[in-house]
This record gives sequence, structure tokens and C-alpha cells, in this order.
Amino acid sequence: MKAATYLQLVGARILSEANDLKRDSHALATELRLDHATIDQVIAGRATPEIADEVIRRMGEVYPIDETDLRILPDDCDSGIKIMRAEESRATSRIFRRPDRNGNLEPYYEYRDTAFSRLSPFRPEWIRELRVVSDCNPDNPDAAFNHGHFLHQYSMYVGPVNHYWEIDGRRYAAEMTTGDSSYTTPFRPHTFTSRSATERALILAVAFGGNVRRAQRELYALGTRAEHYLLDQATTTAATKSLVRQYLRDAALTVERLDTELRHAGATLTARDAVEGDRPLDANDLDHLAATLGVSVRDLHVPVFDDSEEVIVEHTGVDDGYPYPASTDHRYTIRPMIRTAKMPAMRGFTARVTTPDSDLTGGFTSSLHSWIYNYGNHAARLCWSDGTSERQTVVEPDDSLYIQPFVTHAFSRADSEPADLCVVRVAGHVSGDTQRELSHFPSISRVVREDRRWF
Ligand SMILES: [Fe+2]
Repeated sequence: MKAATYLQLVGARILSEANDLKRDSHALATELRLDHATIDQVIAGRATPEIADEVIRRMGEVYPIDETDLRILPDDCDSGIKIMRAEESRATSRIFRRPDRNGNLEPYYEYRDTAFSRLSPFRPEWIRELRVVSDCNPDNPDAAFNHGHFLHQYSMYVGPVNHYWEIDGRRYAAEMTTGDSSYTTPFRPHTFTSRSATERALILAVAFGGNVRRAQRELYALGTRAEHYLLDQATTTAATKSLVRQYLRDAALTVERLDTELRHAGATLTARDAVEGDRPLDANDLDHLAATLGVSVRDLHVPVFDDSEEVIVEHTGVDDGYPYPASTDHRYTIRPMIRTAKMPAMRGFTARVTTPDSDLTGGFTSSLHSWIYNYGNHAARLCWSDGTSERQTVVEPDDSLYIQPFVTHAFSRADSEPADLCVVRVAGHVSGDTQRELSHFPSISRVVREDRRWF
């Protein structure tokens, strides 16, 4: 099938919503007070953007639906990739001032935008540390902390940078250098300084929203009632029990009823022990509970992390590199950056591009959204394909890229020296539970573009 145009996708999305509302195009036309031919043209993607917009606006007025949900994102990528050139990044330079030890507002950071798209879950920045310190003391009064922010932050370091963070009022610091990385959970105060007045000291900071960011509009609507979503994180057992209590309330199941069903299933666990108290739940208990509650065992597992995983730093050594895609086909040297079970859909690594072969063989493809920054002094040739056409360009030092999921891409040396790339990948809307649910659908075609009235 030919790639759909933007207006065809808007039409398909309107058809999908009309399907959910059990309205055919005649019913839509009547209720939106538009003529039937107009609705049919909009659904077929043959109307003007203004008319399609008018249909969406009227649907938002007439039906209790989220109108913004009908607005498809216009694709701002070029065959799945968006490039920001070094000079475009430099043009966005902003200097931020923060107090020094004497309370004077002095230059602290230089910020530059790097590549991102409407579709990308991240807002990555190039941040140069302008405050120079002579130690790595977490209480150095020249290190000016922020208040923490809503987005998760994955950072890669270039040069002599100090990283500071604060957990429960206590401050920590670590000396970082090129190739090191860190991960900071939301709302943890942090800051960065330079250990050198002459060397370039910067961080490549990929701030991104996870599933909570995507639920933000709903959470704003619920306000403080959203607090009820918080699970007891004291222990994994306590967390599971708070989930079991939620499953009971959601299904209007009583503790007595659960107890009867557990006994029928042959469980030794009592319902009382399943919802409260310190009795640990073993694999057998979880099997019985899952079968009784009609969930999978995975839905009863809540990973619990301690404070030491609020901010994580990783120092990378030269020995950490390995050949990619294989030792017999050494095109890149990959050095992993931080990985944490807390964020399974957040991955990062550096790639030294050694191969002169500019073809897609042995390249990369990922289920995640990728951000790539050329942090070295040498250019790389990029070859990519979104499945329909193959493209090429040269990625110069300080150029950056956003790459959509499943866009195959490969790099090669553009001159005699290898290029150094920082790669950070995070999930968009399709991860974890969404991916599992999607995999149960019989086909993808009507999911990505509805093409018929179902009833
Ligand atoms: Fe930050």
C-alpha cells in the first residue's frame, strides 16, 4: 500500500472515532449539521485541511470526546529521520545564569537545542558547563542546584564534568568524564559544573517523558485523587498486596469471595494474607492469585527500588567496548551507557564508527525512538531506510539526529578517522503493556489506518 497522506490519516482517524461512536457518515453529517458528501470527502482524505479541521471541531462540540485525540501529528521527519545541523544548534544558544558562592548571578550553563520531532518523546539539549570548580565537593557553594524537573534525564558526559544530585536533603557528587552517563528520576534536584577552565565540558542531556508524562492530561483532571494510584512501595510483598486490594475493589470482589475462590483453586494462601500483613507471597501463591483474579502473574509483580536508584551514575572504561554487529564483522565499537531495570525502555551507548562501508548491512534498527549526537571531531556518513526509500547524508561533528522506531540506519567513516556517536533511545507511546495488547490484535492494518465501517 502507498504511504497515506496526512489528510488520508486524518480521515481514517475520524472514521475510527465515528466507528467507536457507532455513527455512520450519514449520522455524522446530520449530527454535525454538514452535508453527507463533505463527510465522505473528509473520511476519504479528499477535503481541504480547513474542512477536516471543522469536522474535528464540531465532533468535539457534539460528542463527549477528546477532540485533540483526533488530530494526527503532521510528520516533520524526512523518511523517518530529522536532522539538526551544528549551525542550527548553535543558533539556539542561550546562556543561563545562576548564583555563585557570593550570591552573584553569573553564567552557569550554555544551552543549545538538538534534534527532536513532534513525534519524539524527548527534548534533548547540549549543555555546556560554564561554572568552573576546583573540587568535587557536593556542598561546594558554587554548585547551584535546580528544584528537579518532571522529565526523566539521561545524560552523557563529554570532558571534565562534575555531576551533583540531592536525595532527601542529602547532596552527592561524582567526577564524570567522556563516555560516562547518568540517569536522574523526576523531581530530584541536580546540577553540573566543569573541572577545567580550558577544556570543553558538556553534557548531552536527553530529558524525556515516560508513561506518566503521557498520562499527564488525565492526571491533571483527577487532581489529588490520582494519589490513590500510588502503590505501597515498602516491600515487593506490600506492593503486590496493595495491587490485590485494588483488583478486589475494581471487580467488586469481597475478601470472603476471594477466600472461597482461592480454596476452590487449591491454594493454601488465605484471602486475608493476600491483602494485608507481612506474610510473603511465593510463586505458588502468585499463580493462585493470578488465576483467581483473572490477571497474569506479571500483573501482580511490582518492582521496588531503593533510594540508591533515584540517581545512577556509570563510569565507562576502554575495556567496556565490544565489536558490533559481530566480532567477525567489526563495523562499530559499542560502549554501553547506563541501563536500569527501573526504566527498561531507556537505553544508551556510544558508537565509534570504524567501517568505511556505507551500506545498510550491519546497521541499527530499534523499537525505541533514537537520538544520536556526533560528539567527536570527525564526520560519519549516514545511510537510512524507512522501508520505502533509501537515503544518505553526512553527519558532521555536533550534528544531531532523531530517528523514528524501525527506521534502519547505518554509519560509516566519512574520512580517515572514526566518528564518535552518542546514542540514546527511549520508548514512545508503544511500550510494555501497549505492545503486549497490540500483539493480541489480529492485524495491524486497521490499527494504523481504519478503512471501513465495522457495523
Ligand atoms: Fe536536568
